[in-house]
Amino acid sequence: MITTSLPGGTWTLGGLTVTRFGYGAMQLAGPRVMGPPADHDGALAVLRTAVELGMTHIDTSEAYGPHVTNQLIREALHPYPDSLHIVTKVGANRDQQGGWPPARDPESLRRSVHENLETLGLDVLDLVNLRLGDAAGPLPGSVAEAFETLADLQRQGLIRHLGVSNATPEQVAEAQAIAPIVCVQNMYNLAHRRDDELIDALAGQGVAYVPFFPLGGFSPLQSSVLSTVAARLEASPMSVALAWLLRRSPNILLIPGTSSATHLRENVAGAALSLSDDDLAELDKIGR
Ligand SMILES: NC(=O)c1ccc[n+]([C@@H]2O[C@H](COP(=O)([O-])OP(=O)(O)OC[C@H]3O[C@@H](n4cnc5c(N)ncnc54)[C@H](OP(=O)(O)O)[C@@H]3O)[C@@H](O)[C@H]2O)c1
Repeated sequence: MITTSLPGGTWTLGGLTVTRFGYGAMQLAGPRVMGPPADHDGALAVLRTAVELGMTHIDTSEAYGPHVTNQLIREALHPYPDSLHIVTKVGANRDQQGGWPPARDPESLRRSVHENLETLGLDVLDLVNLRLGDAAGPLPGSVAEAFETLADLQRQGLIRHLGVSNATPEQVAEAQAIAPIVCVQNMYNLAHRRDDELIDALAGQGVAYVPFFPLGGFSPLQSSVLSTVAARLEASPMSVALAWLLRRSPNILLIPGTSSATHLRENVAGAALSLSDDDLAELDKIGR
């Protein structure tokens, strides 16, 4: 059994035990998630700090950079500790303007899985999320062909577990009818709560929910209620936002992003903040 002093304890993704407090690597690429970081050694230090702090879940994608965050992860951490699980995404490319055009045809998905294996230096990917929708959010439509392609790659032994990202509840159900999923990675935070029902339904099924943009992403969370609660607790709004997510549901896994080892440490300390029932009731008003 794996124990952790990180806030939130652990969760089991399929057969893989991960700390509920993980790390999202997207912020390590250059501006607009394109190109290399300004501070290469600083980026390596952030990744090594995440592992030193005991995190066993790192979220990445071949599309970050593109290739950049996967290569940084490999440079910083390979050979990987047995306990570390790297979760990647397929289903989007990058264009010259920094856009995220979909790439969900079978050939693109197969190529992307092989690229992830190569850049991460792995024989098998622990968990691959099929990224759906577009940069503005989920879009309706069948996932069958794309998800069957990933299920086939899983049967071939290249992927251990599957998930979906940026998905509607209907797409989650459609994917689950094709192959088991162990997580859904969608946008969710104190101010953006479209997935409240989905989170509760997944918790009942033992499926993890991994919110991206837990701190608001490119636009930091701003709310007078959040600021008031944070000031009362003598904590930062980010600490409150992370502590709230850990309290919101046991199947929520955190992957806050940062390019700063100092911020990473602050976020770990902050997520351990204790929130009273009154605090929770007040915070609950934000996204309603
Ligand atoms: N599935 C998808 O479609 C999808 C989409 C987006 C993201 N993701 C994943 O989700 C992860 C999390 O999302 P995210 O990184 O975009 O957004 P986020 O975690 O909501 O916020 C990251 C931002 O918060 C700042 N920050 C973090 N800790 C801070 C602190 N203690 N003090 C001040 N600023 C702080 C970071 O700046 P600094 O660098 O200065 O700390 C960065 O600008 C990503 O890394 C990625 O792995 C997935």
